Amino acid sequence: MTEAILLVGGQGTRLRPVTVNTPKPMVPTAGVPFLAHQIARAAAAGVTHIVMATCYLAEVFEPYFGDGSEFGLSLEYVVEDEPLGTGGAIRNAGRRLTGGPDSSVLVFNGDILTGLDIAGLVESHKAADADVSLHLVRVEDPRAFGLVPTDSEGRVLAFTEKPQTPEELITDQINAGCYVFRRSVIDSIPAGRPVSVERETFPGLLAAGAKLHGVTENTYWMDLGKPESIIQASADLVRGVVPSPAVPGRRGESLVLPGAEVAAGAKLSGGTVVGAGARIGAGAVVQGSIVLDDAVIGPDAQVNASLIGARASVGARTVLDGTVVGDGASVGADNELRAGARVWCEAQLPAAAIRFSPDA
Ligand code: GDD
Ligand code: MG
Repeated sequence: MTEAILLVGGQGTRLRPVTVNTPKPMVPTAGVPFLAHQIARAAAAGVTHIVMATCYLAEVFEPYFGDGSEFGLSLEYVVEDEPLGTGGAIRNAGRRLTGGPDSSVLVFNGDILTGLDIAGLVESHKAADADVSLHLVRVEDPRAFGLVPTDSEGRVLAFTEKPQTPEELITDQINAGCYVFRRSVIDSIPAGRPVSVERETFPGLLAAGAKLHGVTENTYWMDLGKPESIIQASADLVRGVVPSPAVPGRRGESLVLPGAEVAAGAKLSGGTVVGAGARIGAGAVVQGSIVLDDAVIGPDAQVNASLIGARASVGARTVLDGTVVGDGASVGADNELRAGARVWCEAQLPAAAIRFSPDA
């Protein structure tokens, strides 16, 4: 039996402006709340018990994920009164673990989509007899992450969260947000106060001579911090670039959920998802985008790499590229929005109001 803790709390976890009231982990990605992919992938890797550590009311998650039986595992929720930080949340959720002090416990950041071989990480952790094992990936710009240099055997040499100076930028190898802990290490984290696993626990363990083992696997890896990456992740899930048992349909160029209406002559591609009750007009071209439930895309509109909120509408011939349209917003016909444009929830943009030009 393998147990896991899933971290889904903290600040900045709401995706503005598209779903002001929905925590980011619940934003539909390939047709289901993002967390469903993490839970399903964990179940497929042999995880049988997940403790979800949240600062939200469990009411947000429970109606969707219930007791986990639909995923083939048991799922329970612990709710922090005040955010306890990553380490505090792990410690707090650890009270619900059932394994002994030497058992292996997976810990997942809740905002990561990865193709990691989860079972392989657990095996490698046991083989190395490590206190903590960390999945590491290489990225082009590591500044927004935890830097984790290792020696030739994979032993972690340091942990520097969000390096501030050029001298601190000593590696492009970063913490990918998936760990295996020896249960007794979790129990040694101080209880009842905020603790950062990245800034306090890992450096403290290293200073105390504990064995931290890094596993560098350059698999599919996406941090869902920005809307762009959520849109990309959704498209990649639909196209099967990263497999998830939770995608409600076959892999392909598009996923049209039951109850959606796509006019003949509309073109869907690039892993586009069309939510229940949404309508796509004739001649519309929608590529690599998320169209949430009950949204309407007008005839001949062109939508690329964008997220269209629930009940939002996009007028005829409007061009959207790399944009987010909030829930219930309306973008009139003949507009052009590009590169990071954000339309607030319920906002109304008249027809022919905005075009895009780098010069005149
Ligand atoms: N329950 C709970 N309580 N969860 C929390 C809390 C808290 O107080 N604070 C953060 N979390 C959860 C977040 O929801 C997220 O799933 C995870 O812990 C990591 O927190 P983030 O706030 O997303 O951290 P980050 O993205 O800046 O950095 C982390 O992830 C990077 C990889 O994406 C760090 O772990 C970095 O070292 C890492 O490189
Ligand atoms: Mg994050």
